[in-house]
Order: sequence, then C-alpha cells, then structure tokens
Amino acid sequence: MAHRTVVAIDVGTTKICTVVAQVDQDTGEISVLGIGLTPSKGVERGVVVNIDDAISAVASSIDRAERLSGYRITTVYVAATGRYLTSLNSRAAVAVAGPDREITSHDIARATEAAKSITIPMQREIILMQPRSYVVDGNEDIRDPTGMFGYRLEIEAHIVVAEKMQLENLIRSVRRSGAEIEEITLQSFAAAEAVLSDDDRDQGVVLVDIGGGTTDIAIFAKGRLWHTCVLPVGGGHFTNDIVVVMQLPYRVAESLKLEHGSAIADPCDDEEADVISVEGFVPGEEQLISRTLLNEVLQARAIETIELILREIRHSGYEGMLPAGVVLTGGAVQLPRFDELMRDQIGIPVRIGTPRNLTGLDELVDRPEFATAIGLIRWGNQLGTPNDDEQRPPHESWIQRLLRFVRELW
Ligand SMILES: Nc1ncnc2c1ncn2[C@@H]1O[C@H](COP(=O)(O)OP(=O)(O)OP(=O)(O)O)[C@@H](O)[C@H]1O
Ligand SMILES: [Mg+2]
Repeated sequence: MAHRTVVAIDVGTTKICTVVAQVDQDTGEISVLGIGLTPSKGVERGVVVNIDDAISAVASSIDRAERLSGYRITTVYVAATGRYLTSLNSRAAVAVAGPDREITSHDIARATEAAKSITIPMQREIILMQPRSYVVDGNEDIRDPTGMFGYRLEIEAHIVVAEKMQLENLIRSVRRSGAEIEEITLQSFAAAEAVLSDDDRDQGVVLVDIGGGTTDIAIFAKGRLWHTCVLPVGGGHFTNDIVVVMQLPYRVAESLKLEHGSAIADPCDDEEADVISVEGFVPGEEQLISRTLLNEVLQARAIETIELILREIRHSGYEGMLPAGVVLTGGAVQLPRFDELMRDQIGIPVRIGTPRNLTGLDELVDRPEFATAIGLIRWGNQLGTPNDDEQRPPHESWIQRLLRFVRELW
C-alpha cells in the first residue's frame, strides 16, 4: 500500500494551521498524523501586515505539527487569500499542429500557454489557471479535446493573479519559518478539494468559505472551476458588530457570539431567559445583554454577508444554474442557523461541508474550518509524484499518537 506524506499550511486571519498527513495512493484516504494550530498573528484579511509576527506564528504552528507527528517538515503546500488576489477569464486559440489534425496534450499545452500570455501589470503574477472550456472548430463546451479531430483549438481559462509584494510576504513568512514552499493555491480552490464531490462540480455548485477575515468563493460548473473571488468580510465582522453595538471588549463579544449566537433572532417572550450577564470593560463589573438584541445584530450582519455572496454569484452569470447549491465551509458558518437563513434568502440548497475521506486524528479536523488545510493535502497529493516516505516515523499506534497530542495540548 503506497503512501505519500503531504504537509499543508493554512495561513488564516484567526488561525494558522499546519497539517501533516499521509495519503493512501489507492483509496485517496487521508490519515492525519499531526496538526499544529496557533492563533494567527501579523495577518489581516489574508494579508501579511507584520512579517515578524507572521513568521513567529507560522514557525510555532510548524513546530507543533512536527512534535505531534514526529516528522521533520521540509516542504509544504500553502493557500492564499485576500483582496490582493483578483480573477479574470482569458481566451486563446492555436492551430492544431499534427498532420492528421488529432489534438494532443502538446496542442492543449500550447493553447494554455497562449491563454497565460495576457498582459498582466508588472507587479502581479498568476497563481492559478484552470481551463473553463475548450472550443474545437467552433464547437463550444468541450471538456477534454484530447484525441479529437480539428483544425483550431480554443481555450477559455480562469486565471487568478496576485499582487507580487503581498504574495512575497506570505512566501517569506513560511520560508523564514524553515519550510520550502512546494506550491501555492487559492484558499477556496483548496477548500473545494476537501468538501466537494465530482457530482457537485458537474452539476454546478458554489463553494463559500467564510473565515475570520475573508469570504472566499469558488463557483464550479460542468466539472470545471468557473469563477473565484475573495470578499473582505468574515466572522470577525460579526464579533466587531457586537463590540460596537453592545460596547464590550472583543474577547467578551467573541465568546458571546460562540456561546449564545444565532443567525436568526427569534423574539423571546420570557424576559428573564433573554438576559445574559457578561463582564464589561470595567473589571469585575457585570453587564446585562439581551439575547434577542445580540441575535438581531448577528442576523443583520448575516443578511448583509449573504447578499454580498449572492451579488457575486449573479456577477458570475451562473445564478439559476447551480443545482448542487451552496456548500459552506470556514469557521464562521458554524454560527447556528446561518445555513438556514441563507437557504431562505437565496432559495437554493445550502449545506455545511466538512472534510471527507479522513482517518487518523479525524475527529479534530472534521470541521468546516479545516477544509482549506485538508483540501491542500489532497491537492498537493495530486500534484506530487506518489512515493513511499523516507521520513516515515517509527511505527506508532493511534492511541500513542492521541496520547502525544493530549500531552502536547497540556
Ligand atoms: N460556532 C461558531 N459560531 C460563530 N462563529 C464561529 C463559530 N466557530 C468559529 N467561528 C468564527 O469563525 C472564524 C474563524 O474561522 P476560520 O478558522 O475558518 O478563519 P481563518 O481561516 O483563520 O480566516 P480567513 O480564512 O478569513 O483568513 C472566527 O471569526 C470565529 O469567530
Ligand atoms: Mg480560512
């Protein structure tokens, strides 16, 4: 049974998460050997704003994952997000080269290169390119033209470009933490790998990853990536609204949201049950909060977030053509009833996606906020050449690994 070990780092706004996993090359099953979870520092809405803080946070996440898994981490796959990433679609055409006019992988590679050679400002670079569809001699919507007969091959590709400086800061934060980067991709594209099925992508689906500082959207149709975008809103905005309206410290507002929050504010008749007592700005002084008001604040933000997402879906031109609906990932979608509210608002199926096909420390990563890291593992495995690891640690049972994890937590 061949295995490959893959390491992923998700540099998020609220957490940095390094995952070391073994992927079974026959079944695709992911066995998580260790995770290193640290609160994020120096990163705001996906952008590195303080490189030293970011380096120390990434380094401590790597260190934890190494200690837990027993692996020395050398190369990693990384996911990027933030407003410095923008997407566009590009079309290019080439003449089919072979004398018998059979389209080969060489023709597809030439067409792909041609689509890449769009004018991009100096300070930007392409970080993702996915074919949307091919056209052979005017026949549209061809998924894979290999082996077909034709004279002219056209490709339409979805491209994501990054501002070099911001991307370089992310790369530096990881490199200076002691790991080489194998590849970088988009967070939403990675998360999709973890939670979507081929059927979802074939039918048409929207992946929405709502993290702490960004909402990453990826729309798939006819099995292909169709549209991506990054919105600068996330779970942190829900908490901030509580801070502003209720005048509470951020830490208190965050735990109020986590313990009592709901995206739908049902009116409460029982006044006593409606009151929550929390610590205010003055130490030792209690402040009384109305649960209904709390949830009205969260509901207003949830409605606004859903509207922004819906606007983006409309903008993609694919509204009404997404039978598999919306799949939600990211920590913020765990706000109770958020999925229900979204279903009511947009009238298509909405479900919460958690990483699939896991074994090992699965109960720890089987949650929507780990979709990006687990998706990176799956994507990295597809890119790399399968090999049996040289760095395999001495054999350990799951119990031993779990005990080590508990020790690590302490
Ligand atoms: N049960 C919950 N209810 C409401 N919000 C939650 C819940 N659990 C987590 N969150 C929110 O999820 C957010 C963190 O999500 P996640 O870990 O996916 O973010 P991230 O990946 O660090 O950020 P980003 O992807 O935006 O860079 C926080 O704002 C947190 O408050
Ligand atoms: Mg995230």
